[in-house]
Formats: sequence, C-alpha cells, structure tokens
Amino acid sequence: MASMMKAVLWTAYGDPTVLKIGQLPKPVPNRNQILVKVKAAGLTVGDTELRKAEMPLPSIFNLMLRLIVGITKPTRFRVLGQEFSGVVAEVGEGCEGVALGDAVFGSTGWPFGADAEYVLKEWPSRGAGGTGGRIAFKPSNLTFQEAAASPTGGLEAVHLVKAAKVKPGDHVLVVGAAGSIGTFAVQLLKHLGAVVTGVDVEEKFDTMRAVGVDHFVDYTKEDYLKSGRQYDVVIDVPSTGPFSHHLLKSGGRYLLGNLNLRTMLQGLLFTPSDKRVAFEAGKGSLEDWDDLVVMLKEGILKPVMDKAYGWEAASEAHAYVESGKKRGNVVLVVDADESN
Ligand SMILES: NC(=O)c1ccc[n+]([C@@H]2O[C@H](COP(=O)([O-])OP(=O)(O)OC[C@H]3O[C@@H](n4cnc5c(N)ncnc54)[C@H](OP(=O)(O)O)[C@@H]3O)[C@@H](O)[C@H]2O)c1
Repeated sequence: MASMMKAVLWTAYGDPTVLKIGQLPKPVPNRNQILVKVKAAGLTVGDTELRKAEMPLPSIFNLMLRLIVGITKPTRFRVLGQEFSGVVAEVGEGCEGVALGDAVFGSTGWPFGADAEYVLKEWPSRGAGGTGGRIAFKPSNLTFQEAAASPTGGLEAVHLVKAAKVKPGDHVLVVGAAGSIGTFAVQLLKHLGAVVTGVDVEEKFDTMRAVGVDHFVDYTKEDYLKSGRQYDVVIDVPSTGPFSHHLLKSGGRYLLGNLNLRTMLQGLLFTPSDKRVAFEAGKGSLEDWDDLVVMLKEGILKPVMDKAYGWEAASEAHAYVESGKKRGNVVLVVDADESN
C-alpha cells in the first residue's frame, strides 16, 4: 500500500472553508527529483485568488485555470501553496550535490502543492521558464519561515525592478508598496539608489518605512494622479487602480504587475512615444532566481514577516490574507521544528 502524507486539501472553488486537512499518497522521487519534507509554506494573495478561481486577470484566464485544474472543482491539482522551505527527505537518481537533510527552499511552479508534508522537486532547477518552479539551498541567514516567504514575491520584485532599469537617484512610485512584492521591490530599489514613493494605506506606512520608503501616499485619501508629481518609473503591483501617463517624466517607464486590459489599452493608445507602459509579469527565470538567492544571502533582501499560522488554521490564514490587513508575507507552519 502507498504511504500517505497529510496535506491541506483544496476541495472546491470558494471561500476559505473549502480548505480541509486530509491525506494524499506521499510522492516518490523519480530520476533528477528530490523529495522535500516541508517546514513552512508561504501563503500569497495568489493562493487566495487561485482558491476561488478568481485571478485578477481577464476572465479567459480563469476559464483556462478551470480547464487545467478541474472545471467544477479542483480535481487534477488538489493542494495549494506555491512556495516552501524544508529539508531533503529522499534523493532520486541523478541528483548531484544534494544530500539527505540539506535545507532547501523554492517555488513549486505548477501544479503548486506546498501546503503538504512533502513536495517533489526537480534538482537542480533547469530551463528558462519558471512553470516547473525553482529550488536552491536555504540561505543560512534566513529561518525556514523567512525562506518560505521569499520565492514568489521576491522573484516578481526582482523581475519588475530589473525591467524598470532604475538608475541611482531615479524617483520611483511603487503602488502596493506594503505587500509581498512591494516590500521586496522597495528594498531592491533602495539598494540601487532610487528615491521611493510608496502607495498603500496609512495603517501600513510603518511597514513601508521599515523597508526604506522615502515618501508616502494613502491611496484611499489622496489621488496621486492629481498631485502633479512625476516619476522616472512607476511600478504598479496590483494594477487595479487609476492610470495616467502624466505620472511619468519624459523617458519614464510604467510597469504593471498584473495584466489589466483597460490600463494596457489606455497605455498603448494614449501614451506619448517618449514614455513606455508595459505588463511585466515575472516568468521565474533561472537568472532572476539566482539573483534573488544571492540577494537574500547577502541580506540585500529580507522578507517582511507578518503572521505565521499552523497549517491546520489554513482557512483562517487565507481569510487574513484576503482581509487587506496583511503586510509583507504570511506563512503556514507545516513543521515547527526550525532545526534541519
Ligand atoms: N504578475 C504576476 O506574475 C504575479 C505574481 C505574483 C503575484 N501577482 C499578483 O500581484 C498582486 C499583488 O501581489 P502581492 O503578493 O504583492 O499582494 P499583497 O501582498 O496583498 O500586496 C498588495 C498591496 O497593495 C495594496 N493595494 C491594493 N490596491 C491598491 C491600490 N489601488 N493602490 C495602492 N495600493 C493598493 C494592498 O493593500 P489593501 O489590500 O489594504 O488595499 C496591499 O498592501 C496580486 O494580485 C497577485 O496575484 C502577480
């Protein structure tokens, strides 16, 4: 009989109560794969959007998601969780340079599955695209919870900031600056010498200040489109708010972290040729991943940690993440033992 493992099962599309602790067969590593015993799993806004099959993308993408995962309920993908940390529990043939007990962290890619006792990963990470996820040794300066919170927001932030081609002294507006992607992006922008204006809500200004934001805007109280201020770069992480190319100086770059068709069309049709508007979703490239791992090791980037929930409280954790109160990152603790 196959051995079993515990997991947070994604039993239906809907509110957080669709998440139930259950059992699944424990995966067995094939050639070039390792089995990771999970210590912690990051819980991103993306997980809550997937749970409902309501990603902030044109509806065709949510239809495609259901075609892949299951039309009426998740059948092919049973477990959420896109990022993890843990220790190597089994090593498949052909995996070089990795041993039992090594501490690792990474992103799952499709078909997710980090909210479980074990995840299977190809070792080492290969290929240009990130659909298969990424893995590396856990930087020793990060706890397992911090490492589990870093891959998704960190990769997205590295991609967005690189695409922005920021120079020292550039003025950069970051929309959603207190979130997971935003807090990583601000740290990297400050490292590159930018002057950062962060947009989020006032209750989260202390989080933004802690990662280095210089100027603050509460988008619920101030219409920053009407301020008359202009920036070299705008990084709009949620891409759900108002848009105007007038926020950009001549030569400026406006980067959208989410595909918002209305904004993209406005940008393409009405932006003068001396400015650029682009949708820049990270692809989880190996180059971005390697850069992220180095910057985590060197302490240039450090995840902002909000709450940690035991994984039996996954429904409560999802409800918190979608409450709008979250700052930085939330994790599910799968195994509270911090030792390897
Ligand atoms: N493009 C990709 O490949 C990719 C990858 C990962 C994630 N994402 C998406 O990117 C989005 C953000 O991800 P995240 O993990 O950084 O989310 P997050 O941690 O929730 O951060 C988003 C922050 O933006 C704030 N916010 C919301 N609307 C705003 C607005 N109009 N102006 C200013 N701030 C606003 C939120 O605060 P309040 O909620 O309090 O307003 C929150 O603090 C999600 O939709 C996620 O799915 C995209």
